[in-house]
Amino acid sequence: MIKKVTKSKNINSKLRIAGDKSISHRAAILNAMAHGTAEVTNFCVGDDQESVIRTLRSLGTKIIHKVNHIDDYPIHSFTIHGNGSKGFTNPTEPLDCGNSGTCMRLLSGVVAGQNFKSILIGDNSLSKRPMNRIAKPLIQMGAKINSINSESIDNITAPFEINGGDLNAIQYISPVSSAQVKSCVLLAGIQASGKTTFEEPFKSRDHTERMLSAMGAKIKTNKNVITIEKSKLTSQNILIPSDISSAAFWMVLGSCHDNAEIYLPNIGLNPNRTGILEVLIEMGANLTIENKKEDMGEPRGDILIKSSKLKGITIDKNIIPKIIDEIPILSLAACFANSETIIKDAEELRIKESDRIKATVDGLYKLGANIKETKDGMIIKPGNKLTGNKVESYGDHRIAMMLGIAGLLSEGTTVIEGAEHASVSYPNFWDEIDKNN
Ligand code: S3P
Repeated sequence: MIKKVTKSKNINSKLRIAGDKSISHRAAILNAMAHGTAEVTNFCVGDDQESVIRTLRSLGTKIIHKVNHIDDYPIHSFTIHGNGSKGFTNPTEPLDCGNSGTCMRLLSGVVAGQNFKSILIGDNSLSKRPMNRIAKPLIQMGAKINSINSESIDNITAPFEINGGDLNAIQYISPVSSAQVKSCVLLAGIQASGKTTFEEPFKSRDHTERMLSAMGAKIKTNKNVITIEKSKLTSQNILIPSDISSAAFWMVLGSCHDNAEIYLPNIGLNPNRTGILEVLIEMGANLTIENKKEDMGEPRGDILIKSSKLKGITIDKNIIPKIIDEIPILSLAACFANSETIIKDAEELRIKESDRIKATVDGLYKLGANIKETKDGMIIKPGNKLTGNKVESYGDHRIAMMLGIAGLLSEGTTVIEGAEHASVSYPNFWDEIDKNN
């Protein structure tokens, strides 16, 4: 799909954003592993949500979908009937994780403990992403993993099969900070005999740990080290906060536009996800947070953003795990700053849904930014005005949406190819763009 976006004159919006994608995945998977029935409300919408629900149903979990409306805005709920961590049934078809790395990596940890064989498949993008990072610890725990196309387990990609069974605990030091890898090991660890520990270089998002703890798991966190023991989970109703990674697009729009005021209610404020707020505030954004609350260990609040004058900053490894999904949109913010921005230590971006360093630099360069790709990030210099041009999403939802926001801020018309990929995490994104265009 091709989407044309022109510069917006003024923006005064209140935007409801769907539930957090990371928390939705965990709410579905952990409640499927738990005992009891739970209602998960304000579930994320999008293709990734369909992947996690489809794969859990293939594993025998009964899940019922319901939609309610608040002010014409649809609120999705799922009732999940958990059968315990050993209650899954042998899937009769491959587990199709679509575009979702979170679905594939978390589910691998679940099926590693089941007494049957699962085949995990994904779309073209997911089939290129590295799975050794989860295969290695799962094999150490006793799972048998066979690659279907890859030459060896060291460069394993989907499709692959997991022959699960009884697992043993491990002490694992992960070379990467990744919540997907951590969660995979914890979900296998909760089924394993003994005490599993997981350590990562910098702390990644901790939604899994918070939810496991709320559901009764024997889990302890000490900075970057987590310990988990075999435990029985109890189903929990969950009200999911709105996704800060989706809200980030509007925060940057509000900060960079000359005449904007945007209100974003009920946004998730987990401290491992609020790097976007820290970075924008350091850049000089006019941003306030109101009505803070907490539900199931996950903080939330309303965010108000107004036009501001931004300055450039240096972004490095200390904050990268907290803004891992927001770097493309922060790069756009840097194009409106009055001094240089350097983004480094962000090589993980090269193995996301696309090579996000290349895709971001390519798109913003075509719009006229003074931006240069480096091995592990990019450098953005001030002074260039953005002007519409033909740009592409590289099949990546976050790149498509960053370019949509760029279109609202650029002179003339921006033509975005592959705009349909926004539906992976934000199906009504283009409707919201049209309202502000
Ligand atoms: C996610 C973790 C992040 C993030 C992804 C969602 C999760 O990946 O990029 O969009 O829900 O665990 P890594 O932690 O593997 O970098």
